[in-house]
Order: sequence, then C-alpha cells, then structure tokens
Amino acid sequence: MLKIAVFVSGRGSNLKAILNAVSAGELQIEISAVVSDKSDCPAFDIAKENQIDTFVVSSKISEGEGSYSKLIFELETRSVGLIVLAGFLKKIPDELIDIFENKIINIHPALLPAFGGKGMYGMNVHRAVFDKSVQVSGPTVHFVDKIYDNGRIIAQRAVDISDAQTPEDIAAAVLKEEHKILPFVIKKISEEKVQLKNNRIYIIR
Ligand code: GRF
Repeated sequence: MLKIAVFVSGRGSNLKAILNAVSAGELQIEISAVVSDKSDCPAFDIAKENQIDTFVVSSKISEGEGSYSKLIFELETRSVGLIVLAGFLKKIPDELIDIFENKIINIHPALLPAFGGKGMYGMNVHRAVFDKSVQVSGPTVHFVDKIYDNGRIIAQRAVDISDAQTPEDIAAAVLKEEHKILPFVIKKISEEKVQLKNNRIYIIR
C-alpha cells in the first residue's frame, strides 16, 4: 500500500478530504506523516485526532530536530512513496525534491500556469483571479519541481465563477473541487495510473 506524507501549514481541509476518502474505502493508501512549518496549525489537530505522526520542519535548521535532513530520515524510515503538498506555504528545499523526484505533488487553487508563482498562495490567488474578472477558475494538481508552481500538470477542474461576488466566493467554489480532485489524483498515483508519455501526463481511467 502506498504510504504518503501530507505537508500542511493551516486549516487542513484537504488533509481531511484525503482522510475521508480513506475512511470511505475510496482510497487505499496510508498517511504515514503530516508535516508542517507551524507546530500549532489546525491541520496538526486533525492529524493527531487520527493518530498520525506529526513533524515540524524549518528551513532555517540544518541538522537535528526540525531540520529537513531529520525529516528525510523519518520519511525514508516510513517508506513514504509520495509527498502531498496540501496548503504548505514554504518552498521545498532542492535536496528533498532530488530525493523524491516525481514523487511530490501540490494542489494549487487556480488553473496553472495562470495565477501561480511566488507569492501566489491562499487568498492572494483568489483576489488576483477576481480582480482580473476571470470567469473560470479551479484547482490544479501538479508535480513539484524546483520552480514554484512549475511542474507538469496532472489534473485540473474548471469551475464557473461568473457569478462570484467576492474573492471568498471563488475560494469556496474552488475548494469544493479541491476536495475531490486531490483524493482522485492520489488514488490514480497509488494505482500507477498516472503516466508520462510524449512529455505529457496521462491519467488512465
Ligand atoms: C488550498 O486552497 C490549497 O489549494 C492551497 O492552500 C489551501 C489549503 O487549504 N494550496 P487547507 O489547509 O487544505 O484547508
């Protein structure tokens, strides 16, 4: 069974969506670790309620507790085969990307390659989408490489936001789709149904 680690920084609703899919029997994976840059984020409470090991990392610490090298050791000890960034706000160090090459995915709350890159996270994204009067938005799940929001796209869902009155309306509409697309992509990866052909990602249905 595929073992995954979920990286979070805040609320954890995507973590909850993954857990719900597991409890519903829709997803056969194990969440072996939840990792955050903040020790007191609500997502950690969800992890603890579900008896999942939690780890805090800081890019400023190079060795010992809280360092990425310690985290890599913990992930390897648990045979983690996939890292899922679900609202993790910090840049992933190149060292971790090299070790988990093509094994890190991220969920972004807009249709990449638009509205991505440094500083484009959380409500910043939805405000920018709103201010441009964009009519269609939606989540993107993509592989993570060394550049922000740049890796190959695995899946996207279009959401009609033509009636949105506020950026918060857009956030809510997109989040609903995030909670479906992220467990879907994890499931397809766990079944080895996400494949690279002709330099393009295909999902086998
Ligand atoms: C989501 O909108 C996700 O796309 C973005 O950060 C938010 C995290 O929400 N990267 P949650 O912590 O999963 O509720």
